Amino acid sequence: MNDHKTAIVTGGAKGLGKAICETLASPGTLVVVADMEIAKARETADSIKSHGGEAVAIEVNVADEASVLALYQAVKALSPTIDILVNNAGIGRELPILDIAVAEWDRIFAVNMRGTFLMSREALRVMKEQRSGKIISIASASGKMGGLVAGAHYAASKAGVICFTKSLALQAAPFKINVNAVCPGPMATDMTAIWGEEMNRAFAEKIPWKEYGQPQDVADAVAFLASEKSRYITGEILDVNGGFVMD
Ligand SMILES: NC(=O)c1ccc[n+]([C@@H]2O[C@H](COP(=O)([O-])OP(=O)(O)OC[C@H]3O[C@@H](n4cnc5c(N)ncnc54)[C@H](O)[C@@H]3O)[C@@H](O)[C@H]2O)c1
Repeated sequence: MNDHKTAIVTGGAKGLGKAICETLASPGTLVVVADMEIAKARETADSIKSHGGEAVAIEVNVADEASVLALYQAVKALSPTIDILVNNAGIGRELPILDIAVAEWDRIFAVNMRGTFLMSREALRVMKEQRSGKIISIASASGKMGGLVAGAHYAASKAGVICFTKSLALQAAPFKINVNAVCPGPMATDMTAIWGEEMNRAFAEKIPWKEYGQPQDVADAVAFLASEKSRYITGEILDVNGGFVMD
């Protein structure tokens, strides 16, 4: 039996994605750091390699079908299997609904929703043949409770990720493919840094844990869902939010 694994992590260049790449990079796992920002993606891959792990950076725009297909072709040339896909690439913008133009609405949905769909569809093709695999998507607490600070388009796209996860889980289960989502509350990354110190301090006060989560908190939840320890877990939306949303 071949125990070697291949994991693709979108948006792996920085933030949560980088922590996920580093955490999945255990011995025997090739991590594909898939990101639009290829220079930064290479830095993540180099850092993994400098610690003895296996990693490669590949440029992708998850919103673009041709780019996603090219990524899968490139991975196929490197590895006969795809064992783990983490749909982490995502973008957001804080805007009141009245200020959201159609192009802005579409821009967010193209990355967060269409990107998750395209990447998962292509992973499913491979994993179905293998009759194994783990697909984990990063949603958001705003996808459950709506977005006041996060834009309504961002929150709606993440609600879409949650529902897509469940549909995919239903269709993938007969092939022994686990499909789950991790739902972070506010985390200490660039995405929230732009809200400014004052707003972040006020927001943290609303979290029962009284602090933002760290990228490692999400990475550890992803690692669990990517492991054999989650054999019978599928269609689960795992909150990582310090008690921010409980449902
Ligand atoms: N930071 C938070 O508070 C928070 C909370 C809940 C959910 N999330 C979700 O977690 C994920 C990671 O967030 P983060 O805070 O690390 O963000 P980040 O902005 O720090 O990093 C996002 C990464 O995704 C990449 N990316 C963006 N668009 C892409 C595209 N079209 N194709 C390929 N790569 C693309 C970027 O280059 C970047 O490397 C996102 O899906 C985000 O919505 C974040």
